[in-house]
Amino acid sequence: MKFQRIKGTKDILPSEVYRWQYVERIISEILENYSYKEIRTPAFEMTELFSRSVGTDTDIVSKEMYTFLDKGKQSLTLKPELTAPVIRSFIQNHLDQVAPVTKVYYLDALFRQERPQKGRLRQFHQFGCELVGSEYPEADAEIIKVVYDIYKELGIKAMTLRLNSIGSRNSRRRYLDVLRDSLKPHLQEFCAACQQRLEKNILRLFDCKAESCQSILDEYAPSILEYLDDSDLEHFESLKNLLELVNIDFTVDHKLVRGLDYYTRTTFEITSPLLGAQDALCGGGRYDHLVEDLGGKTTPAVGVAAGMERLLLALDELNAFPPEDLHPLYISTLGERAREIGFKLRAELIESGVESEMDFLRRSLKAQMREAGKKGANWVVIIGDSEIDRGVVILKNMTDSTQTDIPIDSASQKIIKAINR
Ligand code: HAM
Repeated sequence: MKFQRIKGTKDILPSEVYRWQYVERIISEILENYSYKEIRTPAFEMTELFSRSVGTDTDIVSKEMYTFLDKGKQSLTLKPELTAPVIRSFIQNHLDQVAPVTKVYYLDALFRQERPQKGRLRQFHQFGCELVGSEYPEADAEIIKVVYDIYKELGIKAMTLRLNSIGSRNSRRRYLDVLRDSLKPHLQEFCAACQQRLEKNILRLFDCKAESCQSILDEYAPSILEYLDDSDLEHFESLKNLLELVNIDFTVDHKLVRGLDYYTRTTFEITSPLLGAQDALCGGGRYDHLVEDLGGKTTPAVGVAAGMERLLLALDELNAFPPEDLHPLYISTLGERAREIGFKLRAELIESGVESEMDFLRRSLKAQMREAGKKGANWVVIIGDSEIDRGVVILKNMTDSTQTDIPIDSASQKIIKAINR
């Protein structure tokens, strides 16, 4: 039997990992510039954490979670999203006592049993950040600005920010009543799942992928924006104003409710035409009740999460990766004595921070030079018996093919000087 990777998972091979590292470095640099600190949570949590926060009627909880019983018959779930685990950790570790506002980011693997396709995997990665402790629109605006900065820095220009407010829980209650009254007469026209949604969790109707359901909504669903109360409206207007101040374009989409139950007020998504059918680069919003719903003190919060695979797909489309930084220096040796000298020299170079590579197959000098070329080495150190007899090693500049003799004594320091010249 040949083992295969599980459907919907991916190997990130050595030849592509530098692209991930490049993107991850820019993401954490920008997030840290905005004073976010990284948080890392376990791969699995109690199942109830997700059913209570994301919501039992959502696709994630009802269809997509990897849930299992452990030996103690406890129901556990591989995390399908990170906001709930971060908030669980915030409450459990009393992070509110460390600072009045908690700003954390993550870069992590998640699991959802979805139908795999381009940009949609069963194990995928997200970067994201959460700002916990502020109810004000500055917090929402910062969250959006941070991801915007990250995409811009990476070279993505083609993107659209869709923005909505789904109101506070109070104002939404009125809206949901009106929505139900407007849609009830059309119950039979909806798909079977939506007929249930209409009874159980009506806002989830907006998540339906079926065009026929969406067109009924287009025709008969009132806009939630007309039911916002004064403070919701003030929050939304102020957020829009802040985004305009920092030149972030957006379109208001009153149907954007996002497929998770915890949102209040702001919801947003950034899509890009660089992606295929799965075009959401990221999504997020405000969730002012999640901390208390999970057993903490009432604490407002807002956050965003972004798909890493989708980001990499978009950057591939743009050809936006700098070339891989290959081994800058290769040590080729011929014969036992030379191998020992080369091995020691390489150890010294690496200790001094010079990345280098050597031959591990005892190949001919010609084969080693070919290998150095393939690895993109800028410099090759050549050591053979005749060099040792002359008390030197040869340093070859691969760019202009010039060669210099370097005395074997303290060769590493002299090589470092020569290559940095
Ligand atoms: P989400 O919209 O479920 O939100 O996921 C955010 C992003 O993760 C999506 O926009 C997409 O780029 C990526 N993503 C989601 N599912 C997959 C998948 N199966 N394969 C590849 N990429 C995927 C959340 O997860 C919320 N926790 C966001 C949030 C943070 N809200 C507040 N704070």
